[in-house]
Amino acid sequence: MSHGIVQAAYIVAGLLFILSLAGLSRQDTARSGNYAGIAGMALALIATIFGPNTQGLGWILLAMVIGGAIGIFYARRVEMTEMPELVAMLHSFVGLAAVLVGFNTYFDHGELTGAMLNIHLVEIYLGVFIGAVTFTGSLVAFGKLRGLLSSAALMLPHRHKMNLAALVISLLLLLVFVNVEGSVAVLLIVTIIALVFGYHLVASIGGADMPVVVSMLNSYSGWAAAAAGFMLKNDLLIVTGALVGSSGAILSYIMCRAMNRSFISVIAGGFGSDGTSTAGDDELGSYVELQVDDVAEMLSEADSVIITPGYGMAVAQAQYPVHEITERLRGQGKEVRFGIHPVAGRLPGHMNVLLAEAKVPYDIVLEMDEINDDFPQTDVVLVIGANDTVNPAAQDDPNSPIAGMPVLEVWKAKQVVVFKRSMNTGYAGVQNPLFFKDNAGMLFGDAKESCVRILEKL
Ligand code: TAP
Repeated sequence: MSHGIVQAAYIVAGLLFILSLAGLSRQDTARSGNYAGIAGMALALIATIFGPNTQGLGWILLAMVIGGAIGIFYARRVEMTEMPELVAMLHSFVGLAAVLVGFNTYFDHGELTGAMLNIHLVEIYLGVFIGAVTFTGSLVAFGKLRGLLSSAALMLPHRHKMNLAALVISLLLLLVFVNVEGSVAVLLIVTIIALVFGYHLVASIGGADMPVVVSMLNSYSGWAAAAAGFMLKNDLLIVTGALVGSSGAILSYIMCRAMNRSFISVIAGGFGSDGTSTAGDDELGSYVELQVDDVAEMLSEADSVIITPGYGMAVAQAQYPVHEITERLRGQGKEVRFGIHPVAGRLPGHMNVLLAEAKVPYDIVLEMDEINDDFPQTDVVLVIGANDTVNPAAQDDPNSPIAGMPVLEVWKAKQVVVFKRSMNTGYAGVQNPLFFKDNAGMLFGDAKESCVRILEKL
């Protein structure tokens, strides 16, 4: 394949990636967005593998077969709820790849001299630094999401000063690295600093801010790929990396706004809450336990119902009976809508994907801002496996780890039914005063089983 054809293929692939991002921004175009992304990636791979600069085709195909087999194996096995873990793990591979490309390019940087050599050394240094931060940061995110590491924030004394020191020392070492026209010792030292920095940065972020971290690491992995693109002189990798890097950063910013967190504070690691907990169960009073018959009766008397799903709906795979309940109630002339919190579940858009999977019509699935004012006029709210996202402590308790996070104001409805298995806390590890309110009742049990049993009674 000639150089010109490869460049033309890269431009088309770049356009397909942009179309893919545009498609993925809306539920009804997400599928075509995915296809555009797949087509772009297939074109990019073909153009790169059969391009004039590629050698060792046999090795590349062997690596693709092994990597592809592992990828297919995990993608088929992974549960929807484990998706953020998989994404965090994949980000760590991108980071590690950038580090390896950086060292490889360092040892084989050709005949460059003068300004071109300096630019090349800066590319290598930044690629290795960003890659190493992404690598350990993503591993920690994986560990926290998988439950291998505590989801509580690591609060070392002087942690912000340590982060700042790591950045300043890395900057000074960059000057040394360029000044001595490259030194493997300096590159190794900065790699170690970046690995520790990435670990500490993510370890010091609490569970409630994890969604932003996952999307921020997505952004870092994009910049790591762009840096690798500069080192490998591959224009498409630069463009793709920049697209991933900037879209990840924009998504993180939007999520920070939705959670009322300062973007800078979250990415600087561990600002926000000091992790002190709120009132214990005893201070919150007592709760009412409901039975399936009670809930079925409430629903048959209600005119308007809002369903607010959360992580527990995903765990129980309750979206299908939830959809059937919705259709049954709508068939009886009742108004049924869904209220979706921006960080409900464990990944952005988690609830939307599950509801779309169960064929819930898009027009009754509303964002938090669109539905929050409607709770006072609502007869019954069904909180299905949600906890932190409906916690009034976010508004009422300034010491709560989730203080300031906007929440679905379900407690303003006439009656609230909470579907969960126990009085356990949600992801942020704080108790929920909603469960103890006079207009709220608990329906204990697996959300799917509870929904199926309610359906039988309706
Ligand atoms: P959570 O606060 O995580 O609460 C989920 C609730 O579901 C738990 O209290 C659990 O109670 C219940 N549950 C679990 N399995 C269940 C089952 N089989 N049947 C019935 N209930 C079940 O959920 P949320 O309201 O969706 O909030 C999401 C949290 O995750 C937020 O803190 C958010 O910051 C964080 N987070 C979000 C993301 C993204 S991007 N969405 C990523 C990482 C973290 P029981 O154990 O008592 O059943």
